[in-house]
Amino acid sequence: MKIEEVLKQVTQTLKNKGFESPQTEAEIITGYALKIDKVNLHTQHNRIITDNEAQTITNLLERRLKHEPLQYLTSRAFFYGLEFIIEPPILIPRPETETLIETILKMAKDISSPKIVEIGTGSGIIAITLLKHLPSAIVYATDIIKPTLAQRNAKIHSVNNRVHFIEADLLSAINIQADFIVSNPPYIPTSVIPTLQEEVRTFESKLALDGGKDGLSVIRKIIENAPEHLNENGVLILEFSPEQRDTLEQEAKKRFKNIEFINDLSGKTRVVVCRDSQ
Ligand SMILES: C[S@@+](CC[C@H](N)C(=O)[O-])C[C@H]1O[C@@H](n2cnc3c(N)ncnc32)[C@H](O)[C@@H]1O
Repeated sequence: MKIEEVLKQVTQTLKNKGFESPQTEAEIITGYALKIDKVNLHTQHNRIITDNEAQTITNLLERRLKHEPLQYLTSRAFFYGLEFIIEPPILIPRPETETLIETILKMAKDISSPKIVEIGTGSGIIAITLLKHLPSAIVYATDIIKPTLAQRNAKIHSVNNRVHFIEADLLSAINIQADFIVSNPPYIPTSVIPTLQEEVRTFESKLALDGGKDGLSVIRKIIENAPEHLNENGVLILEFSPEQRDTLEQEAKKRFKNIEFINDLSGKTRVVVCRDSQ
């Protein structure tokens, strides 16, 4: 079968099953299986694919029809302009997390050799992106799951000599006073998880999503413990869900003097910045 016929067939199958962007997805699946980019898929449209290639496409399509995310099929995702290896069930990077990065980069540019702690590093996207943009920074990044994928990503981006990945609960293994503590913690209320898209609820780690009854159980613990791990001008920066804003503000005020909220690109309140200094 020719590439153009495969593309048509895969597109049609995805369309019949109600996928929203069947052609784009067909191009990603076929391109990944044939190890060629989108442009070459179309310039080589008359090339006949091998039996092995056909089998790979069939396998990938079957996985996609079960709603496995494309990023898991292709083992890659983009975040803040960088490419990362992504494997199930580690959380796939979300665009709203870029607000966290923007916020820290603005504050960290005036600090020489900033010391940053990241809680819940997952694939390492936050730690690694910060290190790429802050050449003298050092990051201590923890996760309750062994951060082996983060380690691989750090090596690929050549920042592995400035990051310490630690398998630990929240801040339990941290014994420095940091300039920044940052986290995109699990913040979805337990009762909401069954209502999420199949891609998310079936394939991504519950440990990455489930924030307990009101979604704030991990965030509360971080706010409670962060002050003793920050230096006197230190800042805690957290991602959260917009409807949690008021409760989060009350919680943060118990431990910090100054609380500021930042909107994401879609205009939703997404990041909180907590500190004692002005
Ligand atoms: C929402 S994901 C964020 C992953 C990654 N930082 C990102 O932004 O894509 C939350 C992460 O926190 C980790 N996590 C959950 N509970 C934790 C705990 N008690 N201590 C450390 N990490 C935890 C999860 O394993 C998961 O990797």
